[in-house]
Amino acid sequence: MPSPEITIIGVGGLGNSMAKALSTAGIPIKSIFNRTAVKAQKLADDLNVEISGCFPSDGSELGNLIFITVSDSAIEPVAGCLAGIADDFSTKTVVHCSGNESANLLKDIKSKGGSIASFHPLQTFTRQSELSDFEDIYFSLQGDKSAFPQLKQIAKKLGANTLKVTEGQKAHLHAAAVMASNYLNTLLDVAVETASVSDLAPDEAKKALMPLVKTTLENIEEQSFGEALSGPIKRGDIQTIRHHLDLLKDQPELLVLYRILGQRTVKLARKSQSIDQSTAQKMVNILE
Ligand SMILES: NC(=O)c1ccc[n+]([C@@H]2O[C@H](COP(=O)([O-])OP(=O)(O)OC[C@H]3O[C@@H](n4cnc5c(N)ncnc54)[C@H](OP(=O)(O)O)[C@@H]3O)[C@@H](O)[C@H]2O)c1
Repeated sequence: MPSPEITIIGVGGLGNSMAKALSTAGIPIKSIFNRTAVKAQKLADDLNVEISGCFPSDGSELGNLIFITVSDSAIEPVAGCLAGIADDFSTKTVVHCSGNESANLLKDIKSKGGSIASFHPLQTFTRQSELSDFEDIYFSLQGDKSAFPQLKQIAKKLGANTLKVTEGQKAHLHAAAVMASNYLNTLLDVAVETASVSDLAPDEAKKALMPLVKTTLENIEEQSFGEALSGPIKRGDIQTIRHHLDLLKDQPELLVLYRILGQRTVKLARKSQSIDQSTAQKMVNILE
């Protein structure tokens, strides 16, 4: 399959990274646009892209694969304006990269004959991200099947994988991504706060916890969550759990989180058969 010619509309964190990564991977970029045109012009100069500006003026400025990488709330109006600049999109695929929204946000393009899809990278990007940040990541793919071969080809050239999802699966996968990425920050913030209850400096606590976090992630990658588990719940150490609950009794928010996550950890330990049913029940009783 010949490489598609790309247009990028929106050069924030993701659009900027995509443009640089696609260019490094040897995929031709025909044009780059951004509401603040100077940013598009600068990126186009850096990547030797001939056409740039605020918004395409007609269909001749568009490649056959168009990424709308603007903020989620602007995708639908931008797609509406784009549909207005040409009568026929039947040779074009238009894609957005939102995790939360379905491809249907691009329906104005579909009504002009174009293929539409969402192509959401399960990764976090800033304007400083590089091609290597795409390596081994997953893009969820949802929308018109006719768009998938081109998008799979793009993902492959970026060193990434694709996962075809339905609209419902996509929404749940996005909620899962928020938990796995954003809430991990929150969990570690809670852990540092717990360590700091007795006046240990938070930055010292964070430094001390980070090697443990990294090894845990490595173990999780190689084993099931239950097998990779360590600590008092896996050992059936009820006395330690009681001690922790007592330590946190004056910190209601930390205590609630410790209890909820503890109950779920008991389930994991039980699933991997690290503890027997009677120990699991005793632990749940004190954690509830
Ligand atoms: N960054 C990530 O890690 C990441 C990861 C996965 C998916 N995504 C998805 O990628 C898309 C872009 O996100 P981002 O993080 O790159 O956003 P961002 O860094 O906040 O940049 C927003 C971009 O949208 C443009 N924009 C905002 N409002 C607009 C409007 N009303 N009309 C036209 N353009 C408008 C901005 O133009 P100006 O420069 O003029 O402000 C800028 O180019 C979103 O759909 C997001 O869900 C992002």
